[in-house]
Amino acid sequence: MLNIALPKGRLGDKVYTLFSEIGYGCPSMLEDNRKLVFESEEKGIRYLLVKPSDVAIYVEHGAADIGVVGKDVLMEYNPDVYELLDLKIGQCFLAVAAKNGWTDDLSAPLRVATKYPNLAQKYFASVNRQIEIIKLNGSIELAPILGLSDVIFDIVETGTTLRENNLSVYAKAYNSSARLIANKSRYQFKSEMIDFICRKLEAIL
Ligand code: PRP
Repeated sequence: MLNIALPKGRLGDKVYTLFSEIGYGCPSMLEDNRKLVFESEEKGIRYLLVKPSDVAIYVEHGAADIGVVGKDVLMEYNPDVYELLDLKIGQCFLAVAAKNGWTDDLSAPLRVATKYPNLAQKYFASVNRQIEIIKLNGSIELAPILGLSDVIFDIVETGTTLRENNLSVYAKAYNSSARLIANKSRYQFKSEMIDFICRKLEAIL
């Protein structure tokens, strides 16, 4: 069995569609239930539905052989895995955003709300701006609205969340898209099947 960690949510749906298109569908996954493990004995695969930011942890520790994760997460956590393929889906960018009309007060450290403290540090160091990180786990856009932070450092995909909360992008930092990753030692044992899947995915991208 090849264990594949898929991110739950909107990216996971797109990734599952890709895997179905190359013949690795698992119809029970389309049922409306709370199951987290789905397998197709016939295809020799087992899908694990994982929180997007945890996919790389499952793969790094070998609980999954391969997985799909955003480049944003790989850049933030830097896990010890092979990055095999850019799936070109889930395209988004990490940006600095703030309330419409905001201007930076350079006399004080910038208060930055983010799920990406490491990347935020790296980005603001590269532009020589002193910051104070406010680590949040979701609904980051609320922080500047309530005065908890001056700006956010977060991913923007369609831009809808920013727009609907009267926020705008002030700087683009890094691009991201979904990547196929593999556990390093599992890859040695299962390289034939993993490479086969990679080639099939490449062919339809
Ligand atoms: C992410 C991100 C933004 C939103 C951007 O949040 O943190 O809030 O998506 O997408 P958009 O540009 O298409 O609006 P997510 O949906 O993962 O939820 P979260 O707030 O719980 O982190």
